[in-house]
Amino acid sequence: MASNSETSTHWQGKIVVITGAASGIGQALATALIHKGATVWLADRNQGALNDLLGNLGPSAHSLCFNVSEFDAFEKAVQQVIRQHGRIDYLFNNAGIGFGCDASALTHEHYDRMIDVNIRGVSNGVSIAYPLMIKQGYGTIVNTASVGGLVPSAIMTPYAMTKYAVVGLSESLRLEAATKGVQIITLCPGAVNTPIFDATGPADLPRFKASNLREFTRESMMSCSPAQFAEWALRDIEKNKSLIIYPRIMRVAVWLYRHFPALYLKITQPNLSQELKKLNTEP
Ligand SMILES: NC(=O)c1ccc[n+]([C@@H]2O[C@H](COP(=O)([O-])OP(=O)(O)OC[C@H]3O[C@@H](n4cnc5c(N)ncnc54)[C@H](O)[C@@H]3O)[C@@H](O)[C@H]2O)c1
Repeated sequence: MASNSETSTHWQGKIVVITGAASGIGQALATALIHKGATVWLADRNQGALNDLLGNLGPSAHSLCFNVSEFDAFEKAVQQVIRQHGRIDYLFNNAGIGFGCDASALTHEHYDRMIDVNIRGVSNGVSIAYPLMIKQGYGTIVNTASVGGLVPSAIMTPYAMTKYAVVGLSESLRLEAATKGVQIITLCPGAVNTPIFDATGPADLPRFKASNLREFTRESMMSCSPAQFAEWALRDIEKNKSLIIYPRIMRVAVWLYRHFPALYLKITQPNLSQELKKLNTEP
């Protein structure tokens, strides 16, 4: 028997913009939404990857190439969508970067780079779409944070900083937005098998050694595929759930940290100094 999410018509005809859609979670969300009948504008800074994807997604897929950190370019792209369709139903602020390392190796440029994409990219999207959606009287903004925005993550300090910020922005705005007919949703992936921690990621990122993180997102029993994550997340987005955490097992980590922080840290960071040493001696 078909499940509710398979028979739902919720997404049919919806106008959706997804940033960071050329890879990983964004690509999986775009693919699933097109399958469910939405018109999807895939936004990414990687034009080549967008071109490769578009050929396979059919006429409901369109591309927008811009850097989410650049407000003017972001605004222009959203205006293009509004010109074409007269509205925007969903904006997924999903583009993000990640790297892991001993924090003593970080410079202010590393922090800036992370802030530019993971925080400014989201606040740009919100400040462009929120007033438009208020004017429409409806609309949903889905901001991708992370489980790393709900529990501390040593070796990923700048990443955690940005994701805590996205949780704060989204959960606070949700309250206000509800009074104006707009929905704000916080998406918190746990470990999803994507190239985000790949050493061959964006060329303008500092190179860091964090093979343990890559292994965790790829091979851990606690990780899932982007397609599976997208399917779970879209089911909850449709219901306007406020904080969406998948894989489900990650909810245990969040619960444990909230209620028993010392125990959580003992379990998750048993040998941090050893781990840092290992990280710093990795080839
Ligand atoms: N994969 C995970 O385990 C995981 C866990 C928690 C949170 N997340 C979050 O999910 C989101 C998607 O991550 P992913 O794992 O799919 O990563 P990914 O690297 O597979 O995809 C990210 C996409 O964003 C694009 N991008 C990066 N910087 C950009 C910019 N400045 N402007 C426009 N596009 C840009 C990249 O080109 C890429 O196509 C990110 O916000 C990430 O922090 C991922």
